[in-house]
Amino acid sequence: MQFPTLIAREVLNRRIAELAVEVGTAFPDRPPCLVTVLEGARRFADELCRRLPGKPGYHSICASSYGPGTVSFGKVELLAPDELPVRNRLVLLIEDIVDTGHTAQRLYSHLEDMGAEEIRLITLLSKPSRREVDVKLDWVGFEIPNEFVIGFGMDVDGKYRELDHVAVYKERNAMVEGS
Ligand code: PRP
Repeated sequence: MQFPTLIAREVLNRRIAELAVEVGTAFPDRPPCLVTVLEGARRFADELCRRLPGKPGYHSICASSYGPGTVSFGKVELLAPDELPVRNRLVLLIEDIVDTGHTAQRLYSHLEDMGAEEIRLITLLSKPSRREVDVKLDWVGFEIPNEFVIGFGMDVDGKYRELDHVAVYKERNAMVEGS
């Protein structure tokens, strides 16, 4: 099934390269501990980190707030390894999308509880119109409208993560009616 493209592969490439330059020069004396929020941010994190000086690796936290389909549970489930080396560190959280902001807010407070000294957040996408809590975003790849997006790591029911671009998810019926 074809979904309308929101952000094409070349546009993603260019923006991620720009972000890598900004992030790569932001912490000259203090290499951050990189923490990627799985599952959705893996693709963005891989592409960002391979463009950063020294091609650093990252640690992972699993966070999930969406149930089946496109509806958020509104409750963030976190699975964070106890050995995450964030104590007294500068942490760079890598997200694919900040929507309501609940996941990011939960992650900030969890990392603070684990002893992180300072936390910065980079997200590929932000949907400001959906924000329910105020969260600090240090780098945003793209602000997008209130559409459910898939591809480039993002899914609906585990599907479409492998798309090379960001697309707008439409239910099959809506696609037929709209075509
Ligand atoms: C997505 C995304 C963010 C979160 C943002 O994760 O990766 O972590 O939703 O939503 P919020 O700002 O409304 O909290 P999801 O729950 O879909 O899990 P996944 O990354 O494993 O697909």
